[in-house]
Amino acid sequence: MKNLLSVLRSDEVAADLIQVIETVINASKEIAFRVRQGALAGVLGSTQDENIQGETQKQLDVISNQLLKDLLLACAPVAALASEEEDSVVAANPEGQYLVAFDPLDGSSNIDINGQIGTIFSIYRALDSVPHNSELQFNQQGTQQVCAGYVLYGPSTLLAITTGKGTRCFTLDSTQGTFLLTADNIQITKDTQEFAINMSNSRFWNDDMHCYIGDLILGETGPRQKRYNMRWNAAMVGDVHRVLTRGGIFLYPSDKRNAKQPAKLRLLYEANPMALLIENAGGKAFSEQQRILAIQPKQLHERVAVILGSANEVDECLGYLQAHPTAY
Ligand code: F6P
Repeated sequence: MKNLLSVLRSDEVAADLIQVIETVINASKEIAFRVRQGALAGVLGSTQDENIQGETQKQLDVISNQLLKDLLLACAPVAALASEEEDSVVAANPEGQYLVAFDPLDGSSNIDINGQIGTIFSIYRALDSVPHNSELQFNQQGTQQVCAGYVLYGPSTLLAITTGKGTRCFTLDSTQGTFLLTADNIQITKDTQEFAINMSNSRFWNDDMHCYIGDLILGETGPRQKRYNMRWNAAMVGDVHRVLTRGGIFLYPSDKRNAKQPAKLRLLYEANPMALLIENAGGKAFSEQQRILAIQPKQLHERVAVILGSANEVDECLGYLQAHPTAY
C-alpha cells in the first residue's frame, strides 16, 4: 500500500507544501493518541473558558489547538495560522509561503461520549500584497486552497485529503504511525436516499427548507417517489465522511434561532475545506445562495449555510430554495 508521502510526491506536490501537510498530520497523530487514551489521559471534560464563538471549550479542544499551533509555528514554510479556537490570526514565519486554517477538534460535543470527532484543515498560499500577520491574508476564496482535508478520529483514524488531483482517503496504521492509501480517487454517487440535518431546528427553518425536507420524509408517497433515511452524527467530519463513502446530502441551513447569526458552520475552516473535498470527489457544495468555494470571505470566523453531497440531490434541494429565495 502507498503511504501519504509517496502519493504526495507522485502528485508532484511542492516540497514545502508537503512539509506543511506533514506537520498537520504529525499533530493529528498526537491528537489521535490522546483521543484513544480518553479518560486514561485525563483529557475529557470542559474547561472554564469559552472560545470567540461563545462555545464552552473542552479540554481536548484546547490541547488539540495547542499541539497544532506549536508544531505549525515551528514549520518554516508557514506564514500565519487561523483556528476556531483563536480570536485572531496567529503570526508565524514572515518569510513563510503558506497559511493554515483549522478546526482543531470538530464535533467536540462527541468527545465525552466516545463519538466521532476530527481535525479539519485548509491550506492557502500567503499573499505578497498583505502583511503576513494580517487577517486579510485569509480573505481568499475557497477555490484558492492548495490543500484541504480532515482527520477523523473514529474506530480507525482516517485522513481524507485533496491537493487538487481528486480526493483520497488514508488509514492510520498505528503499528507504523503511517497513513496508508485505502481509497483512491473517491467518486460520490450522484443520487442518494440518505440525508443529514439537525431536525430539532426545523421550526427555525425557512418555508422552502421545510418543504424540501418534508418531501424527503414523504418518501415514495411524495413527489420524490423514493424512501429516504436520515443520519446525524453531530460532527461534520463524521457526516461528510459518510457522504464521501456512500453518498448522501448534508445540510446545515440558515435559520431564525439567532437574528445576528443565521448560519452555524464556519466558512474558513469547516465549509471551504469540506467543499473542496466534496467537489474533487464529484459532489456539489453550496451555501443557499452560491457555490461555497466562490464565496468572498469578509471575516475570519464568518459563518455560512452548508448544503453538500451527491450532485443530483444538492441540485434538487437548490431547486426548492431558488423557487422562493428568502431574505436570510
Ligand atoms: O460546530 C460545528 C459542529 O459541531 C459540526 O461539526 C456539526 O455538524 C454541528 O456543529 C453540530 O451541530 P448541532 O449542535 O446542531 O448538532
